[in-house]
Amino acid sequence: MSTATKKPIVLTGDRTTGPLHLGHFVGSLQSRVKLQEEAEQYLLLADAQAMTDNVGRHVKVSENVLEVALDYLAVGIDPAKSTIFIQSQVSELCELTQFLLNLVTVSRLERNPTIKEEIRLRGFERDIPAGFLTYPVSQAADITAFRASIVPVGEDQVPMIEQTNELVRRFNATVDAEILVECSAMMSSVGRLPGIDGKAKMSKSLGNTISLSATPDEISQAVKRMYTDPTHLRVDDPGMVEGNVVFSFLDAFEPDRARVAELKAHYQRGGLGDSVVKRLLDERLQALIAPIRERRAHFAADRGEVLAILKRGTERARNTAAATLSDVKGALGLNYFG
Ligand code: TRP
Repeated sequence: MSTATKKPIVLTGDRTTGPLHLGHFVGSLQSRVKLQEEAEQYLLLADAQAMTDNVGRHVKVSENVLEVALDYLAVGIDPAKSTIFIQSQVSELCELTQFLLNLVTVSRLERNPTIKEEIRLRGFERDIPAGFLTYPVSQAADITAFRASIVPVGEDQVPMIEQTNELVRRFNATVDAEILVECSAMMSSVGRLPGIDGKAKMSKSLGNTISLSATPDEISQAVKRMYTDPTHLRVDDPGMVEGNVVFSFLDAFEPDRARVAELKAHYQRGGLGDSVVKRLLDERLQALIAPIRERRAHFAADRGEVLAILKRGTERARNTAAATLSDVKGALGLNYFG
């Protein structure tokens, strides 16, 4: 008898509003490269979701599909192990969204804390696009169409997982069958990378990122500009490592933990200059980004090959989603023609 255990199904998603950066590498890309060895992993390029708050910027959204795909391939996502696919090309996801929309109230949607915050940030107030308010339902369809049991997400996405599971329970209770599967959020253990300016979050809109295609010079410039301890004026002064971006980055990228601990102690005591620590970080980042930048350039030079990878992935994803949709429609009595 076969003792082979089935791999868990993992689904990840990224809105295609721009290329990814080092913050994404630490927060999610790194762990996805590992996950593809242990799980059946689907990576969704969320172009349709990106359109919910980018009306009029659809060209930017669609052009970034290829950019994000290049980032995936550059960090080592292997299309032979993972399925990379484009959300807007899997129409089954829209069908499932439509059925799930009947199982949630408008007031419940308005209570979703992530949506509330995004509405505030975007200044939608009472003029909320319906597609935006309901994107958590579309996201629930993204997850459940693949019967994913694990969804790696940042903290801000946890309400989406809760809402997904509410929908799963309501759907299954409605049709009195276990058709859809609940999932759990997998939180990154590494934590979040701060921006090079010391702001808590690295984000393109804040202009404090390091891109995955940064040139050697761009990397060095970013390290030079990095926020350290503004009160650490002379080398002999004791310095702060908390909130010091250079040390946060070393925590994330220097594998020799003992060395980092030693440098931190020295810095706190006094006698260690910023430039010495920055030189070490510069070396680490150069070594980390060089192969990513080269792989990215290699794939970027063969756009046809990348599109072929996306086409194959999208076909595979459609087959999976179509099988779930057939069960969903069957459970709802919508299988008129057998
Ligand atoms: N909401 C995610 C983001 O803003 C993208 C996304 C779309 C997603 N569908 C998903 C994430 C499904 C996880 C699961 O980046």
